[in-house]
Amino acid sequence: NPDVRSFFGRPIIIGGGIAGLMTALQLAPEPVLILSRTLLGADTSSTSAQGGLAASFGHDDHPTLHVADTLAAGDGLCDTDMANRILQAAPSAIEGLARFGVRFDRTLKGPLCLGLEAAHSRRRIVHAHGDGSGREIMRALIDAVRSTPSIVVVEGVEARRLAVRGNAIRGVWASCALGPVFFGSRRVVLATGGIGGLFLDTTNPSGSCGQGLVLAARAGAVLADLEFIQFHPTALEGAERPMALVSEAVRGEGATLIDETGRRFLDGVPGAELAPRDVVARAVWSHLAGGHQVFLDARKQPGPEFVRHFPTIACACRGLGIDPVHDLIPIRPAQHYHMGGVAVDASGRTSVKGLWACGEAASTGLHGANRLASNSLTEAVVCARWVAESVGGTPARRTKPVFADDYPSPDPVPARPFVSRALGIVRNGEALKAAARALLPLAEREDAASDPAAVGLMLAISALRRRESRGAHYREDFPHHAAVARRSEITLEAALAAA
Ligand code: SIN
Repeated sequence: NPDVRSFFGRPIIIGGGIAGLMTALQLAPEPVLILSRTLLGADTSSTSAQGGLAASFGHDDHPTLHVADTLAAGDGLCDTDMANRILQAAPSAIEGLARFGVRFDRTLKGPLCLGLEAAHSRRRIVHAHGDGSGREIMRALIDAVRSTPSIVVVEGVEARRLAVRGNAIRGVWASCALGPVFFGSRRVVLATGGIGGLFLDTTNPSGSCGQGLVLAARAGAVLADLEFIQFHPTALEGAERPMALVSEAVRGEGATLIDETGRRFLDGVPGAELAPRDVVARAVWSHLAGGHQVFLDARKQPGPEFVRHFPTIACACRGLGIDPVHDLIPIRPAQHYHMGGVAVDASGRTSVKGLWACGEAASTGLHGANRLASNSLTEAVVCARWVAESVGGTPARRTKPVFADDYPSPDPVPARPFVSRALGIVRNGEALKAAARALLPLAEREDAASDPAAVGLMLAISALRRRESRGAHYREDFPHHAAVARRSEITLEAALAAA
């Protein structure tokens, strides 16, 4: 399509979730192109985010307390410097969102309403429409993007490969309904979200299969901490995929976890229902594995207030014939977030020249081995500004147009059973080796159908190499912490060689 030539040279943002839209808005008035697989707002984890954004707004709070909670949840693996930088910038970044038109929940007198989630020592979750935070933020950002003339959004286009010369980006090969297409640019931002589509039980949209990771890896980029995959303890049990989330904020408002006998089985765990997410997810998983059923009991607290605080969750429950004010809510853990990603510096720069990453696709080091609830949207919004400053400060150069051969659609199904089986809440070396062996022949193929397998292989090799248990990475064959906490790095070449 010759029209795309008019976009040549613009920075390209791949992904239309909160990280991508915020980066584009922060770049304005510099012209920018957003490539989105679907219509903006559809099929992105951002839209379904319930909890909100964590920031130290409370009169009893301070960024140092927020940092301390983040480091404690991260189990020794957070980058302290990044945590300080990002969390200090969080309140002003959230005020920036409000200036883009996001209507956060406020008290009658005006200050923001602040929710509580697990492992936070203070109320600091800024939210909208109770549990509709992601939907409201996306509504406002999509409105802002659509009314910003410097931003062009191309929907229904899937990025397939990054064109690289030497170690520098030259553009993006993509496919759309009209066929293959090439967008030339020396500045590309990956904002593609997570990897939940590789798991059978996930709260992520099925299309989130780690596209950013494989695009970066095939371009030669270094990826970090891939073995750290977060499982949310309370996804709504039912046939639906992706699974509906029952926000941690429900436990923050007093709901408890009980089994079919009515026993509160987390009673002995420090922090109980509000212990860090990896601890609660493992406890729920092992109770289920012991033959029990697990329920969230919200009947007393939040009780009659449930529907007002959590209208989205109430609606999902009712879809299964459950009235959360009077009935127990059946839950199970599900893959929810990826702490690992493309290794980036504070400006979102990857190891490949002209390539940045932002949001869940990036690994800044903020989350360590276990992300503190609601720190992810905060990270995306704060880092989008820094990425935009860095992209905007890199001079534009013209790139010649090239047109591509056709690419088949990636098919996540072959990778799913291996990834789900080996990279779940409890792992062991034998299962990880078996997954790596099964994924290798798929990952070695060069076509796009091999992409989910390539991501799965890098996850499995990263998990095999970490011979300890830390945060969300639990190995039954190495159940203890190593003496020293070290972040991990991997490339696709190294994963293929190791398998
Ligand atoms: C939740 O609302 O429990 C999820 C928030 C998050 O994943 O940060």
